[in-house]
Amino acid sequence: VLFGLSSAIAQEYPTRPITVIVPFAAGGTTDVVTRVVAEHMSRTLGQQLVIENASGAGGTTGTTKAKRATPDGYTIMTGQMGTHAAAVGLYANLQYDPRTDFEPLGQLAGTPILVLGRKELPAKDLKEFVAYVKANAGKLNNGHAGVGSVSYTGCLLLNHLLGVKPALIPFNGSGPTMNALVASQVDYMCDQSVNVVPQVQGGTIKAYAVATPERNPALPDVPTTAEAGMPEFQASAWNAMFAPKGTPRPIVEKLNAAIVAALGDEGVRKRMLDLGLDIPSGSHTTPEALGELVRSEIDKWTPIIKAAGKQP
Ligand code: MLT
Repeated sequence: VLFGLSSAIAQEYPTRPITVIVPFAAGGTTDVVTRVVAEHMSRTLGQQLVIENASGAGGTTGTTKAKRATPDGYTIMTGQMGTHAAAVGLYANLQYDPRTDFEPLGQLAGTPILVLGRKELPAKDLKEFVAYVKANAGKLNNGHAGVGSVSYTGCLLLNHLLGVKPALIPFNGSGPTMNALVASQVDYMCDQSVNVVPQVQGGTIKAYAVATPERNPALPDVPTTAEAGMPEFQASAWNAMFAPKGTPRPIVEKLNAAIVAALGDEGVRKRMLDLGLDIPSGSHTTPEALGELVRSEIDKWTPIIKAAGKQP
């Protein structure tokens, strides 16, 4: 009887708006990617997806909130390489396990990471940036979106490779961090392509390199770290949706189908490609593929973080 009831509820789902927790401030990568995909999902599902920015502690505050939500499909979240992988190595007292406390719904986007400086930095290219940072690290501010975020983790690795310990300045998301970089309140950051593209087009920051094997089509003039002389710095991230553990399978499948439909839409695809995003396809779009990604990313980043040493 219980199964019959829950499957009937799942069949009607959704009958009211769905809250999507974004664990960072508005205007950052997680927020922008979520809005692009969720707008199309709303059309597929016939209900509004309402975004709730629940920022704090590098995304772990909002992720904990999502874990504790009722698993009925009416509260889901967008997680990413920070909240659902790096945070495991960065917080001894993390209130959730990304592997067991969520139902993976589907990947939204792959996001390349770039090395960025404020516009007035004297360094013209990555080699000069490396020399400048090594010579001035004690005076430099490295902005990031909180311990546990992608931007924190990306520059943790960069700073480790350079052997420097700049002052680390936390914000509630990469949107506010980027604003601080544009305003020269911080000297450098490691951000994903989403907020970088419009700033590079507007000439408001310096983009030294993209830390992926290939150049990004949305940023064709930005060299790869390998081209720019630092092949050892490789870092990219991803965004994905999750529901609290115990969300009924038919609801998970409906949400996954809505994600896949969004990723197949020409308008959505164009917006994503313009932001330098990789669009998951085929076997990469299943809930199972996301579960596998979370496990492999935790296994990949935990030793890197341990070797780099968490910085305050
Ligand atoms: C990060 O640095 O992890 C994120 O990009 C933060 C954000 O999405 O605002």
